[in-house]
Amino acid sequence: MDTRDLKRLLSGMSLREKIGQMIQLTGMYFDEEAVLTGTVGEVKPEEWVIRYAGSVLGMDGADKIRAVQEKYMEEHPHHIPLLFMADIIHGYKTIAPIPLGQACSFHPELVHEAAEYAAAEASSEGIKATFSPMVDVSKDPRWGRIMESFGEDPFLNGVMGIAMLEGYQGYGSIGGARIAGCLKHFAGYGAVNAGKEYNDVELSRRTFMEQYMKPFRMAVYADPAMVMTAFHAVDRTPVSKNRELLEEILRGELGFGGTIISDWGAIGQLEEQQVASGQKEAACAAAEAGVDIDMMSPAYMSHLEELVEEGRILESAIDRSVWRILQMKNRLGLFEDPFAGMKRSVCLSPAAKRGALRLACESCVLVKNEGILPLDPGQKVFWAGPYIDSREFLSRWAIFGEHADVETIETVLKGRKIPVKLIPGCEILSEEEMRIWCAGDGKPVEEGIQGDRKDVDWQKQYAGVEEIREDDTVVLVLGEHEAQSGEAASRAFLDLPERQAELFDMVARRTSHIVTVMISGRPLDLRRIAERSEAILLAWRPGTMGAQAIVRLIYGEESPSGKLAAGIPWCTGQIPVSYWDMTTGHRMSEADPGNRFCSRYMDIPNTPLYPFGFGLSYTEFEITPPQMRKEGAGEEERICVSCRVKNTGDSSGAEVVQCYVETICAPVVRPAKELIRFRKVFLEPGREREIEFAIERKEFVFYGEDMEPIDGGIPLRITVGNSSYNAAGSVDFTVGGSV
Ligand code: NOJ
Repeated sequence: MDTRDLKRLLSGMSLREKIGQMIQLTGMYFDEEAVLTGTVGEVKPEEWVIRYAGSVLGMDGADKIRAVQEKYMEEHPHHIPLLFMADIIHGYKTIAPIPLGQACSFHPELVHEAAEYAAAEASSEGIKATFSPMVDVSKDPRWGRIMESFGEDPFLNGVMGIAMLEGYQGYGSIGGARIAGCLKHFAGYGAVNAGKEYNDVELSRRTFMEQYMKPFRMAVYADPAMVMTAFHAVDRTPVSKNRELLEEILRGELGFGGTIISDWGAIGQLEEQQVASGQKEAACAAAEAGVDIDMMSPAYMSHLEELVEEGRILESAIDRSVWRILQMKNRLGLFEDPFAGMKRSVCLSPAAKRGALRLACESCVLVKNEGILPLDPGQKVFWAGPYIDSREFLSRWAIFGEHADVETIETVLKGRKIPVKLIPGCEILSEEEMRIWCAGDGKPVEEGIQGDRKDVDWQKQYAGVEEIREDDTVVLVLGEHEAQSGEAASRAFLDLPERQAELFDMVARRTSHIVTVMISGRPLDLRRIAERSEAILLAWRPGTMGAQAIVRLIYGEESPSGKLAAGIPWCTGQIPVSYWDMTTGHRMSEADPGNRFCSRYMDIPNTPLYPFGFGLSYTEFEITPPQMRKEGAGEEERICVSCRVKNTGDSSGAEVVQCYVETICAPVVRPAKELIRFRKVFLEPGREREIEFAIERKEFVFYGEDMEPIDGGIPLRITVGNSSYNAAGSVDFTVGGSV
């Protein structure tokens, strides 16, 4: 529809019709079978609200969506189409690895491609918007949602956020098979206190503006259709009523012109946070702050009309919000075709599965290998653990993914005729743990996901362990249950589920040749497992093609190339920990390790067990110290950092060359270092390549003592290397000065 017609449409709408566009309801008001991703609570929409609500979340199934759309449009006075939204977080039917795993690939092109498939599949079923990507920087693996983030680094979150967004939206020209993306949770939710879901956030303004806002700043340039307000408060003002954040920073400074949607119930929650005396005040505060869509709270549907009639909210403000929503629908092509993109592509196509497999392979991170991997496909190996015959490689955020589409490791191994002995050994969770995690709908896990293992005699399973001898090699595939990560899945302990820990001990008593493959939605407390394993491969929640990826990597058909997007802590007590933690005084020095008067724990090291950016390969790489030259002058000044990377081993593989910056001396305390560029390089043995990173002067800007931006005259150091703790060399310089 052209802009004139769209404006005409808006001007003909009644106030209720307009308010309807600003209300999002879950699919259960339209169909009993919708997926619920939150609590319905007090939301009891009147009949007019259901008739005019502008968007629906969590509804699935092309035929159902088509029927709801047809009925809705017929009854709507202006026949405005509904917009169906859902949490398509890491795939619709073809499930890619969780975002944290995707980030470990350090391969944005693959992330982009996976998002394109997700968009095509979702769109073909009628879903035209997703609440993704989540670019919440997180250094706290207790938080269940770290699985949905791109990890601990602001820059990596930004790069991957852009890649995913562009994959969904098609470089900003949404239409056809494209869907609208949504950057979330604006902003800082990854710093949730103590890693506890729905907790508040306490951050310095500087850290908030620099590190936590950085991915949003970066990704807003990719023109997201929506931004979602987070649940928490920033400097004690909840985001959904935070005018400074939404109006001045997001719309003003960052120039965001799309739709602002609240998180589920976040507007109504202002009352619970005791910053609004009731739902009416909550609605007023959120509308004044510029929140365009109220997702599933009673506030807008019950009070916005009254607030306009009383003159407390101007109708022109309502018009601005509705205009943005109508524009989004228009960009999606819904006015021309309310079924745009439907039935245009098939789900689980061979190409989509190939993409998911590649991403799953590149997401896995090999953090330890004492020469045991890769295994020889001819050698006798035991594969043990509950994940070898499980299809549970998806996640709680794969809400439309189906376990039936996931192959098991057992099937993959048998399909390749690899001679192995299989010992599932135990359930993923004990009955007590199943209860704690509300896993499997209260049904015993065998009846739920692991249906085919219902009649297993566990004593007999354990009996298999007795066959393992001292010189045998065992691949143990262990990890968290799907229910243990995602939304509302914070953990205080990051250990293996109890039965699996027992199984590990049992195996470790028989042989030391253990390869542990870890399935998880977060970094776990791995130290004890690491001490007694000869190799560890972190596979995260690898998605539909997870089993294939794991088998390929273990047998060396692919070389691992993933790097940690979030470091593995030494133990839970070290959390939160990150490579970019602020520089301190009382620094621990290698020259005087016995000094107790320094910033340290007395009982553990200061460094994580495996740091950000770390990951091994089956081949070796050498990176040369960096060279630097400057280009341009003044505002246009750029720093060009170059180095060479060479595959010095005897098999092909990929290295991620990482470039970090630190301030040598600044008026304020700053992060120890920050990732500023990276490049994944695939090389055949003996081959080398020159890498150059061009960095704009403005990328070095930070806030000074009075929050004034400092954009030059500060001595800086750039290091290049293959992890945050392993530099090949460094170069010092000053922007705005001479080399
Ligand atoms: C609440 C979550 O915080 C958010 O990320 C999600 O998109 C919505 N629920 C909708 O399911």
